[in-house]
Amino acid sequence: MSSEHDQILVVDFGSQVTQLIARRIRELSVYCEIHPFNSIDASFLERFKPKGIILSGGPASVHGVEAPAAHKSLFELNVPILGICYGEQTLVQQLGGDVQASDHREFGRAFVEIKRSCSLFENIWTPGNKYEVWMSHGDRVNTIPDGFDVIGVSDASPFAIIANEEKKYFGVQFHPEVVHTPDGKRLLENFTRKICKASGDWSMASFKEEAISKIRMQVGASRVICGLSGGVDSSVVAVLLNEAIGDQLTCVFVDHGLMRANEANEVISLFRDHYNISLVHKDAKDLFLKNLAGVLDPEQKRKTIGKLFIDVFDEEAKKIGGADYLAQGTLYPDVIESVSFTGGPSVTIKSHHNVGGLPERMKMKLVEPLRELFKDEVRALGRELDLPDEFVARHPFPGPGLAIRIPGEITFDRLEILRSADLIYLDEIKKAGLYDDIWQAFAVLLPVQTVGVMGDSRTYEYVCALRAVTSTDGMTADYFPFEHQLIGRIANRIVNEVSGINRVVYDITSKPPGTIEWE
Ligand code: XMP
Repeated sequence: MSSEHDQILVVDFGSQVTQLIARRIRELSVYCEIHPFNSIDASFLERFKPKGIILSGGPASVHGVEAPAAHKSLFELNVPILGICYGEQTLVQQLGGDVQASDHREFGRAFVEIKRSCSLFENIWTPGNKYEVWMSHGDRVNTIPDGFDVIGVSDASPFAIIANEEKKYFGVQFHPEVVHTPDGKRLLENFTRKICKASGDWSMASFKEEAISKIRMQVGASRVICGLSGGVDSSVVAVLLNEAIGDQLTCVFVDHGLMRANEANEVISLFRDHYNISLVHKDAKDLFLKNLAGVLDPEQKRKTIGKLFIDVFDEEAKKIGGADYLAQGTLYPDVIESVSFTGGPSVTIKSHHNVGGLPERMKMKLVEPLRELFKDEVRALGRELDLPDEFVARHPFPGPGLAIRIPGEITFDRLEILRSADLIYLDEIKKAGLYDDIWQAFAVLLPVQTVGVMGDSRTYEYVCALRAVTSTDGMTADYFPFEHQLIGRIANRIVNEVSGINRVVYDITSKPPGTIEWE
């Protein structure tokens, strides 16, 4: 919770797109936080002091048993409220209007016709015209509470936009936070900046300064250890801590030998030579390979790597005399997930590798300076800290590294083959200027050999699968539509330049039903 900035409170009713509300608002330089509806009460609001409140959408029906509702103290604050979708419905229901249950869903693109002017869309939409929005709802408002006017209608929603200008309460049946509502961000700007009068004083430069002073206050003169993986999050944490506490920080880089080509050296030279950060580099390649020998099951691979990582990290930390604090790159989406009233995903698809087991085992307290940030904000902070662009803009790379890109047995030779193919693939993507358009691109080495012909000889070598996806958060993804010529050139180069591969395929599966990694 930031007391220094004007802030907006997003009350979460469980919509899939609640996070987008917070992102859009922060893009407007207004700080905001998401809190589950059932964690809010008067004392919370006393501390939070919102300049305005947004009630998110959600999957429930106001007619359901124990339907989620906004805490009554929200309506006693005298600050503007915007209800989105379910948020509009509960606003209406709680203020004395009526919502009608319906089996008919209005989903996707729709048009709202503006009936009268309203401060929510001042200088954006004008009465008499129709504008494109994105809808996703079943129930709909039937009668509006006293003091409200109908401002906009759509074919399926006679109360698509309602407002009580005097109290500054607004309800929209559509979702302004998604890009499919083209003017949505401007509506949110009107709401936060003009109606709530939030000053828009939140920037990465101010975040950096505040984060540095918070770290200093938290750790005092204690020692801090940071696990460095070469990824964006841990790199940003390390550089931020270095600015905050300098010599009290030691970074530990456990080199498990499952990194991409040249990556380990890049990490060492950037942090040790460029930033002059105290860095322990533990070469544990042989140890990891030895323990992975003969392990074929993907979950077993992950568990082996996770356990070894903790053992090695713990050992190295002891060697340097331990520390009171462990720095971690926990991000805002992880925080929201862990406090969400719907809980996290109920089924474990893959057991993720992180340093989660470390703090308990090593009895360390946590420093998590990125807890309030989204991934793209972490990148912006990295730029603010002068981290080189090739680090900041890097595609995400999983903790267990190339181990989950080699189905079947992991051997040194297979790792080398994969590293060579991956290097060519990324090199061509960068040359084509497509790297930043893609969320993640990587090669996978399949444990399948096929017959090929090279010159006059028969070959019997591995198949390499290429994967490239677009995504905003890794939760869902689409395959990237390369031009045929480019993908052909990449395949040609890999088969010609990498000994061990004689066939290349391109993965066109989206997520779901596929996952991004192959395991
Ligand atoms: P999947 O394969 O589950 O991956 O669709 C979604 C995103 O998560 C990354 N990933 C991981 N990241 N530790 C990480 O830090 C892990 O164990 C891990 N497994 C998958 C994956 O690269 C993709 O971006």
